[in-house]
Amino acid sequence: MQRRQFLGSLAAASLFPRSAVAQTAPKRLIAATHRQQILPAPYPDTEMWGFEGTFPGPMLRARQGDRLKASVENALPQPTAVHWHGLRLDNAMDGVPGLTQAPIAVGQSFDYDFALPDAGTYWYHSHAKSMEQVERGLYGPLIIDETDAPDVDQDITLVVDDIRIEQDGTVASFDNFHDLSHAGRIGNLWLANGQIDPAYPLKRGDRVRIRLISAANARVFTLGMPGFAGWIVALDGMPLKDPQPMPEEIVLAPAQRVDLIVDVTSDEDEAFLITYERDGGYAIAHFPLSGATTSARSGKVVLPPNPDFPIDLANARTATLLVEGGAMGGMRAARVDGEELDARTLAGRGLFWALNGIAGRPKNPLLDLSLGESARIGMANNTAFPHAMHLHGMHFAEVLPDGSLGPLRDTLLLDPQETREIAFQAHNPGDWLFHCHMLAHHQGGMGTWIRVSA
Ligand code: C2O
Ligand code: CU
Repeated sequence: MQRRQFLGSLAAASLFPRSAVAQTAPKRLIAATHRQQILPAPYPDTEMWGFEGTFPGPMLRARQGDRLKASVENALPQPTAVHWHGLRLDNAMDGVPGLTQAPIAVGQSFDYDFALPDAGTYWYHSHAKSMEQVERGLYGPLIIDETDAPDVDQDITLVVDDIRIEQDGTVASFDNFHDLSHAGRIGNLWLANGQIDPAYPLKRGDRVRIRLISAANARVFTLGMPGFAGWIVALDGMPLKDPQPMPEEIVLAPAQRVDLIVDVTSDEDEAFLITYERDGGYAIAHFPLSGATTSARSGKVVLPPNPDFPIDLANARTATLLVEGGAMGGMRAARVDGEELDARTLAGRGLFWALNGIAGRPKNPLLDLSLGESARIGMANNTAFPHAMHLHGMHFAEVLPDGSLGPLRDTLLLDPQETREIAFQAHNPGDWLFHCHMLAHHQGGMGTWIRVSA
């Protein structure tokens, strides 16, 4: 039943003419608990936390150049705040409790209202106790349409996730030191748009835009789309100047997005979105195929570019970020509020990770930049785990070993013992969080921030 209702609402949403979807009046987003069938029947349903009584929350869709206005009402048992992941927005609307706003107290509301300079695939999620609140369901897709969107037969958004759920339907306990000090909260059930292996019917030969968004707490997905061929056209919302052929394996770290424009090439009855695990591939969504498309679209598609903020590598301010901690990491001590604490005392406070020797958000920013200045941050992962490093408010490019710049991203996967460098132009004033999007790691101390002074 749940599946049918959800598919019903998706279909209805895509029938709206674009202009009717543009956000003019504020969109109401009540954050509250509700019950939803997550496990297959006859397993019991689950108390989820969601926006507007759904998990995932409703798709928010607007057009590039419009404003998004959303009034978030907190009917949860805890304070909350909403972050608009990947948007280069006004700092006061960024949704980070204690940095950009006070948390929205229980029973209170907060009006978000910001301009949308960029088109692309984004998402919104709770940024308060996020390891728990995102896992419980407080997230949704946020799509900003190009004024001149490419012509496709279907535009399908797939928010992939893994949830850790008990057989009695309850979301597993968050009281777990192992998650905080190891890989993070890895789930035991894969979901796409909140469902187990949902179906999206297509015709053979269809050209489809697929927007993959990972809302996983910590799992790094390796995804494949057998039965399709085409290109990666955007990463983390930002169009690629030169779209890349879709690889067999697409790595999607927590919070990352990949936009594909692909054609159905299979002549089987079904095509799949597969997650590749150690013991083989599993479908997390499938596409029943019928007939043959009546439209013959072909050729590589390049999305129109978003506003560009060129990076001046030669004159950039530099910083380094040493990532330490976690099990098998050998971190002996770190500073908290200027006080040096040993690993045992840190663990007692739920802190297991440090950036440049500091556990938890420091008093001073990693970098204090002037507006328009460029910056480079060299990151060294001296731990046994991968980390998905996310910068708020501005996209960065990786500085590749040959000195050239990679594609723009807002979240970069840093594998164990890896060293990588990112660079960006400080074009957006404010205080911007820079943290690991493995949400247990962030809770366990892996977060710093960057100031851009106007
Ligand atoms: Cu997806 Cu700090 O956020
Ligand atoms: Cu991490």
